[in-house]
Amino acid sequence: MKSPMTIALLLTTCIGAQAADLPGPLEDRDFLWNGVPSPELYELGRSLFFDPILSGNRNIACATCHDPARGTGDGVSLSIGEGGIGFGPERVTQDGVTGRVPRNAQPLYNIGARAYTSMFHDGRLELDHMGGFPSRLRSPANDQLPEGLDNALTAQAMFPVLSAVEMAGQPGENPVADAVSKRDFKQAWRLLAGRLAANPGYAEQFVTAFDEIEAADDIRFDHAATAIAAFETAAFRSDLSRFDARLAGWPMTTTEEAGLELFYGAAGCSSCHSGPLLTDHDFHAIAVPQIGPGKDQGSDGSYAVHSGYPHRVEDQGRFNVTGEKANLYAFRTPSLRNVSLTGPWGHNGAFASLEDMVRHHLDTVASLTRYTPAELPPLDTVIQPVRSRTGVSYQALSPMQRGAYDLRDIWVHSSERLRNEIARANTLAPVDLSDEEVSSILAFLETLTDPTAIDRSYLVPTVVPSGLPPQPGRGDACLSDTPSLAGAMAFSGKAEGLPEPRCNGRGDKIQH
Ligand code: HEC
Ligand code: HEC
Repeated sequence: MKSPMTIALLLTTCIGAQAADLPGPLEDRDFLWNGVPSPELYELGRSLFFDPILSGNRNIACATCHDPARGTGDGVSLSIGEGGIGFGPERVTQDGVTGRVPRNAQPLYNIGARAYTSMFHDGRLELDHMGGFPSRLRSPANDQLPEGLDNALTAQAMFPVLSAVEMAGQPGENPVADAVSKRDFKQAWRLLAGRLAANPGYAEQFVTAFDEIEAADDIRFDHAATAIAAFETAAFRSDLSRFDARLAGWPMTTTEEAGLELFYGAAGCSSCHSGPLLTDHDFHAIAVPQIGPGKDQGSDGSYAVHSGYPHRVEDQGRFNVTGEKANLYAFRTPSLRNVSLTGPWGHNGAFASLEDMVRHHLDTVASLTRYTPAELPPLDTVIQPVRSRTGVSYQALSPMQRGAYDLRDIWVHSSERLRNEIARANTLAPVDLSDEEVSSILAFLETLTDPTAIDRSYLVPTVVPSGLPPQPGRGDACLSDTPSLAGAMAFSGKAEGLPEPRCNGRGDKIQH
């Protein structure tokens, strides 16, 4: 009998036509912490990732949008952040939200690979090659970002907590949101670190995980970010797919092999989806249609004129980071590992089917033209701030206001001018593939699924030190779980003057 090694060698010699283009396997050293952070750091990061304590109103966690049982995303085109209740496509907004998150929650598989030197669809957080920032990182926080963050993933974890719509909440609701609205990010991080320090369970974990932390007072938010990054690095590593087996020389089916050959050959996919993560980490404009409220970018202004809301609906991608015309509507090439688990696809979840996403690449401009906007789940209640002498309160939009508000989800795609702008920016030339060839590429993409990634809900802890229900829970954990004693202790300080923790700290404040 031949040993697996001999078989592997034989196979590589007979089917390895594209061996030169195929990447090497992922190795421990390709990852931060060489793939193996200390168990103390990992466990602390794990608690933090699932604990709503990091959100202003204590009602949403990282994992609410990056669910380990939903492809590390939330299964919807555009996330509903702070203020939503429930998880995934069942998440609802009766208690009021100010809007949708404008982009699709990115999958976190292999996000701890050192090759990721930029974060987000537009890379607005990145290792700074030019120098100039003390932190060595270029980011929307500019020089407020502390020094000593030694990688982009750790720096990334400093940001979701600063987003009003993702985690911080609205001004007037909690002190973190107030600090964020004044762009005092340092204060927001200080308040959150204070929350953690006031919790005996967390304080102990921080002291154990970091040599430099001797007492609770030494805890800073960048320590929390480091632990989260360590957890993400180890927990979301995923390289046990059949593609990995193929890289080691094991065979695939004839169809899959044909798909691989096209992917690395005539179809040109690997010119962007290259390397062991199937991304070049670069930015390309491929005319993915826009849905959703956009990023308040661009100069069109027609939505504002029509609706009366001073809001710009474009999301111009990388252009907003570099200001270079060549980057208009360019987004970072996504990794395709586990791609069949990570839909809807595209930077805004424009495509609900993987096949449509792949076919879009064949003739991007034609696909943009014939595109029908994906249905976004309706928002039950949208709120807006009403300022008075006594402070700020929130009011639900009237039906008429809602009509004008909701138009923003489809405004860009409905505008011929804006559609043409996206089409003009496109850099991907059409490629002619038969239906059979598309099918084999899709079969190849399935081989990128790591079976161990399909459901990693075992990562969700049953309890976290805050005593709040870890998210995502099963059903509406918010209503059924009672905070533990540790949680009650953590809140007894009430240093920030918050009301009793609840799923949504806002519902009773809305005036309908
Ligand atoms: C409300 C949903 C939501 C929450 C909560 C959330 N994220 Fe995200 N996450 C997103 C979205 C959406 C993006 C893409 C944003 C963009 O490109 O502008 C993203 C991007 C990321 C990325 C970048 C991945 C890449 O490939 O560049 C990382 C890492 C990440 N999130 C980790 C976290 C962590 C850690 C937390 C908690 C501290 C968190 N997220 C909380 C929705 C969320
Ligand atoms: C010019 C570079 C380029 C080429 C060539 C290319 N892609 Fe892409 N691909 C991208 C970019 C950029 C995106 C993200 C675009 C966006 O969201 O706006 C993307 C998105 C995708 C997605 C969606 C992934 C997700 O998580 O949302 C899939 C699937 C995909 N590409 C498959 C392919 C296949 C198959 C081929 C070959 C037929 C191919 N790509 C060729 C750049 C490219």
